[in-house]
Amino acid sequence: MSYKTLTAGSVPTSNSQALAIEVLVGLSETPKRLASRLFYDDEGSRLFQAITELDEYYLTRSELEIFKESGPELLGHLAGQSLNVVDLGAGDGHKTAVLLDHLRGIGADVRYVPIDISEGAMRTLTESMQRDRPDLEIAGLVSEYFEGIRWLAHESGRNNLVLFLGSNIGNFDRAHARGFLRQLWNALGPGDYVLLGFDLKKDIEALLNAYADPHGVTSAFNLNLLHRLNRELGANFDLDQFRHYGTYNARTGAMESYLVSLVRQTVRIEALQCQFEFQPWEPIHTEYSYKYLESDIESLAAYTGFRILDRRFDPKHWFCSTLWAVEKAG
Ligand code: AVI
Repeated sequence: MSYKTLTAGSVPTSNSQALAIEVLVGLSETPKRLASRLFYDDEGSRLFQAITELDEYYLTRSELEIFKESGPELLGHLAGQSLNVVDLGAGDGHKTAVLLDHLRGIGADVRYVPIDISEGAMRTLTESMQRDRPDLEIAGLVSEYFEGIRWLAHESGRNNLVLFLGSNIGNFDRAHARGFLRQLWNALGPGDYVLLGFDLKKDIEALLNAYADPHGVTSAFNLNLLHRLNRELGANFDLDQFRHYGTYNARTGAMESYLVSLVRQTVRIEALQCQFEFQPWEPIHTEYSYKYLESDIESLAAYTGFRILDRRFDPKHWFCSTLWAVEKAG
């Protein structure tokens, strides 16, 4: 009797199959749940950009203010180094551009390396960055974050400065934030750095205004998720029968977003060939945005293998930008 061990080549699942399965799992949970990364189709990205321009959504402005006012001090540790500036979730890149200018101003030799899974988003970003800064070396990586960083670690003789801006870390719960940063630590080496933006705990009124703005932009952003499922999975969500609800959970320190069903209703999802029942006032959880104390930031760094080199605040002390170094025996 002889036996063989076979290695299956990878046969990719289509994007819409993966989306359908994620939705099946999320809507089968109690309470129902849809992951916040599903927000970001083209329309969702456009709506998020509109949120960042609202007076109520202070996060983007506060972080930009820190970069403009304190960028040279924050980045001073990197003067004269040869760096890949690795941008995770760059958006339109306008905050990163301020950092790149500061880095070049302090004599760093910089190569800009945005990483994004979407080829379209990457093209838009790199083309506009190159147009504005023709002499900047740019190498966009279309890949998953950690795959891209591991590849870079072997590919180039430069140190890496990874940017994770805009309180993106806040969309992970506390346990997953640790998991994400430890994975990042694994992919990096000694001499590498991370620049992380944290939204700080503050007056709850300011938080509620930022995540349930009176103009309805955050509501449209949240509801667009259902619209996306209608378009991509043949679902029949009636957007008028769901309402955006943003609330602060003081126990966990997170803003939480929900889509609440206003009536008893049944929603069919063609791609799954099944339907889901909703009770009146039943919520679908869609997003966490965790807020931090300075002590939370310190313990997060300590648990995940980093040393905090510097931290800077906006004048209201609402946002904190931190520079971390990878601690690893060389
Ligand atoms: C992308 N992320 C950091 C934003 C946040 O503040 O959690 C997404 C967002 N959700 C509602 N408004 C903005």
